[in-house]
This record gives sequence, C-alpha cells and structure tokens, in this order.
Amino acid sequence: MAYRTLCRQQSLQEGEMVAFEIQGHEFIVLWPEADEPRAYAGACPHQGVPLRRGFFNGRTLTCPLHQWVFDGRDGLGVNAGCRLKSFPLRVREGMVEVDHPAFAGADSHGH
Ligand code: FES
Repeated sequence: MAYRTLCRQQSLQEGEMVAFEIQGHEFIVLWPEADEPRAYAGACPHQGVPLRRGFFNGRTLTCPLHQWVFDGRDGLGVNAGCRLKSFPLRVREGMVEVDHPAFAGADSHGH
C-alpha cells in the first residue's frame, strides 16, 4: 500500500465529484448522497474519455461521450456491461488519501 494525498477532507462535498491527477494518474472522487467518498479511475472504461467532464447527479455518473452511466457507490455500470476501476480511499488527520498500485513502485525508487 502506498497512499498519496489527494486533498483536504473539507474539499469534498457530499453529492459532488472532484477530479485529481497524481503522478500522471487521473482520479475522480465521487461522494454519493448518504454514502462515503469513493475514488475511481478518471478515464471512462469505454473509450477513455476523461470522466471529469461527465455529469454526476449525486447518485450516478454519466460519461459525456456515449452516455454510459455508472453508480457512484460501487462504480457498476447501469447501462454498461463494465464498471469503473476503483481505488482504496481513506481519511487520515483530515486529509483524503488514495492508493494506486503504481505508487508503490515509485516509492521503491526513492521518489
Ligand atoms: S467513452 Fe465513455 S461512454 Fe463511451
């Protein structure tokens, strides 16, 4: 596990989407209403369009290119036969952190 800081906890709002890039990896954090913030890959699993340009209604995220819809709680496709790739998210001392397999490799090289 190699977590990286995304943002302050206060930067996230229930019902909203925020996009981040860390070390060349794009993430979106979706915070579905009455649920917890979750981190997903920032590219649509269909043709890789940046999902930050999509529309999150507090429950589902719609890709802007072909309107595939994903459930913000688990990334499952609503009208698509695939799901968003998710990454572990945690809050430590007021900071939101995300884990990505590539970060572990970066650590071993001293970055
Ligand atoms: S690229 Fe997202 S639905 Fe096609």
